[in-house]
Amino acid sequence: MPAAQPAPLTLVPPAAEPAPRTIVDIRNLTLTYQAADHPVYALSDVSLSIAKGDFISLIGPSGCGKTTLMRVVADLEQPTSGEVTVNGMTPEQARLKRAYGYVFQAPALYPWRTVERNVTLPLEIMGLPKAERQQRAREQLGLVGLSGFERKFPWQLSGGMQQRVSIARALAFNPDLLLMDEPFGALDEITRDHLNLQLTRLWLSTRKTCIFVTHSIAEAVFLSTRIVVMSPRPGRILDVIDCDGELPRERTLDIRESPEFQRIAHRVREGLMEGHSYDD
Ligand SMILES: Nc1ncnc2c1ncn2[C@@H]1O[C@H](COP(=O)(O)OP(=O)(O)OP(=O)(O)O)[C@@H](O)[C@H]1O
Ligand SMILES: [Mg+2]
Repeated sequence: MPAAQPAPLTLVPPAAEPAPRTIVDIRNLTLTYQAADHPVYALSDVSLSIAKGDFISLIGPSGCGKTTLMRVVADLEQPTSGEVTVNGMTPEQARLKRAYGYVFQAPALYPWRTVERNVTLPLEIMGLPKAERQQRAREQLGLVGLSGFERKFPWQLSGGMQQRVSIARALAFNPDLLLMDEPFGALDEITRDHLNLQLTRLWLSTRKTCIFVTHSIAEAVFLSTRIVVMSPRPGRILDVIDCDGELPRERTLDIRESPEFQRIAHRVREGLMEGHSYDD
């Protein structure tokens, strides 16, 4: 019997730079609500691909479908047509695997539960042991600057602190994707600045993928890697602005005075004005 031949040497091509992983892929999404008397055309032909680690802001006039878009990603609304995948799965599969955390516009905390027990609630539902729930809650509350407030009740906190509790709750089960719908909309400028700074640090340290809804141009430019400008209803994408090429990833509030920041803010404003109808 002939001796076994060694396997021929094959040349392995040098490893290519890995393509950024797509976390959310939205293709030709259209959504029409069937209201009692007439259809409401909320979204029209929206396509958007969001890579791992992106911080995407959605900005557009009231009623243009920003919340609707987030709700589709979160499997809280069904598209009329088009396709959406989250982590390569359907939104339903992603929801069942707890791929995302959702921060609603209002903090939506339970007043009879302490701050810590609000944060541990999703972990209780997941069946994690008590010691681990407490440890995770404390870690996340520390990340949002609320160490020492674990035993307080939500009504003992300011609005900004309550929002931070809801961010901690969304982070507690370590989702890849964080959906935030105008989390700082009701806060004063200075608190908002402070939370923007905390959020950008949190994002840099956790490398989560974020989709963030805002009506503030400055907030969108400050936080985002990309800004998606939407038209009035039915919401379409008018412009996608890349901030990463212009601004460093690590940002401090004084960056808002820079010409690059102003240039991006101007382009967002132009997009919003172009899409806006002044007829009504
Ligand atoms: N369940 C529903 N049934 C019927 N119409 C709806 C429903 N939910 C939202 N809409 C309509 O769809 C459109 C888009 O709503 P959506 O809440 O997504 O807007 P938005 O961009 O988040 O607005 P805002 O900036 O005011 O929060 C609006 O005209 C709204 O009235
Ligand atoms: Mg909304």
